[in-house]
Amino acid sequence: MLNRQGRPTGTGEGGAGDRETFTGNRALEQLEPLIFEIGRAETSGVDIPAAPKVASRLGGHARKAPIGLPGLSEPEAMRHYVRLSQKNYGIDTGLFPLGSCTMKHNARLNEKMARLPGFSDVHPLQPLSTVAGALEVMLELARYLMTLTGMPAVALSPKAGAHGEACGMMAIKAAIAAKGEGATRNVVLVPESAHGTNPATAALIGFSVKAVPARPDGTVAVEDVKALLGPEVAAIMLTNPNTCGIFEPQIVEIAAAMHEAGAYFYCDGANFNAIVGRARPGDLGVDAMHINLHKTFSTPHGGGGPGAGPVVLSQRLAPYAPVPFIHVEAGEPVLVEHREAAPEGTAPFGRMTAFHGQMGMYVRALAYMLSHGADGMKQASEDAVLNANYVRAGLADLMSLPFPDHPSMHEVLFDDSWLKGTGVSTLDFAKAMIDEGYHPMTVYFPLVVHGAMLIEPTESESKASLDLFVATLRDLAMAAKGNDKERFTAAPHHAPIRRLDETRAARQPVLRWTKPAPGAPAS
Ligand SMILES: Cc1ncc(COP(=O)(O)O)c(C=O)c1O
Repeated sequence: MLNRQGRPTGTGEGGAGDRETFTGNRALEQLEPLIFEIGRAETSGVDIPAAPKVASRLGGHARKAPIGLPGLSEPEAMRHYVRLSQKNYGIDTGLFPLGSCTMKHNARLNEKMARLPGFSDVHPLQPLSTVAGALEVMLELARYLMTLTGMPAVALSPKAGAHGEACGMMAIKAAIAAKGEGATRNVVLVPESAHGTNPATAALIGFSVKAVPARPDGTVAVEDVKALLGPEVAAIMLTNPNTCGIFEPQIVEIAAAMHEAGAYFYCDGANFNAIVGRARPGDLGVDAMHINLHKTFSTPHGGGGPGAGPVVLSQRLAPYAPVPFIHVEAGEPVLVEHREAAPEGTAPFGRMTAFHGQMGMYVRALAYMLSHGADGMKQASEDAVLNANYVRAGLADLMSLPFPDHPSMHEVLFDDSWLKGTGVSTLDFAKAMIDEGYHPMTVYFPLVVHGAMLIEPTESESKASLDLFVATLRDLAMAAKGNDKERFTAAPHHAPIRRLDETRAARQPVLRWTKPAPGAPAS
């Protein structure tokens, strides 16, 4: 007999484990088809009175056939969306060790603050006299960001890390143009270990990109930077701590070399979570740095948005910060909306967003800062580093560390040399973690090591939670080394959807539902 996915039901050769159920569900895990597949055109969850007859003014453009919206009863619609919501693995369902992403707990206090009507209902076109509280939140957040980074200015409006990179690099471009070097300084140095958004941003802003080689120990050496410097170099984009989870030991020397060459230092601050309260980018010689509020300051990662990526700027770049911004004049906040209205001594390069950025994220980040206090934020960074090193110590005898001589900061990087000869790849290992109920770590990034596995547990995890995670990974690692290849290469065994053709899913995504021919099984 076929089930509703068109697969035979009954016991398969492998026993109960691969038995298909009639419904396609696995115990209480419900298979959830598309709403179009469960809907019936003739059904509606509400009774709407028939529309009164009116003379058509559509001139022959009226629809000839039903629109084909899926019809469901109210409980069916409710169940559909609740089940979909349950399929989302998030920090509220389990440890989320995605390196470079800082998936930390989002405290409910922050949510409560963001939902206060004065914040959640605020409109960007409201008269200024009615938004004094919102402006004060923005100013207070800016003050905290400047204090924590030791930088004199901040542009709040960018909406994510990559957007912040664009903002910082546009400020650098404007500063270079103001010095009359716009035509000649057009090269940006980017280390090989950088996040892909760094070279992409530099190229998007019109710079050409030159790669700085990674040293065998995973760091960037000042001699390698100096060898690439010249009058054509506009800036370096360097991540610190870097994407291998290592604090760049020569960062101060690199900053000095850039400045001596008349260039700027853009720091990718995605990993600021590791150093808050311990090191200030301003003291390291940084000119511009974005801060992913959704990482360091625990605002939610919203499936691509809404995010916030404020950019802190040095004195040299501050005049070029984009509009809109809040300028304090005689103790009163003044909203500068247009370049023409910019105060004397400033020359905003333009605008990054239609309005002021993500108010809800500002409130959440400020609530995080205020509830932690200065000592609490420092403690959070220290705990993030401690947790990463705890995981490292628990796995280092089984998995291989490409850079064993550097302590890890907030994330620990393993490569796949320990899997050599097992027939198990990094991807297989990650898929087997799904069977154990864990979201996999970041894999195959950074590119400077083979088969990278980047684990960032964050400060949110308790020792008990870390112990279970380490024990699970140890069990998997021993199984991989013990030739239990099938546990990995066919994983995930227990997920409702098994191994996908990832290349096809990325290259030929099916984004549109088409009605199957009558009698055809659902795909
Ligand atoms: C090192 C690094 N730089 C930049 C970014 C881009 O940030 P966003 O995803 O907020 O655009 C990320 C995001 O993961 C990152 O890890």
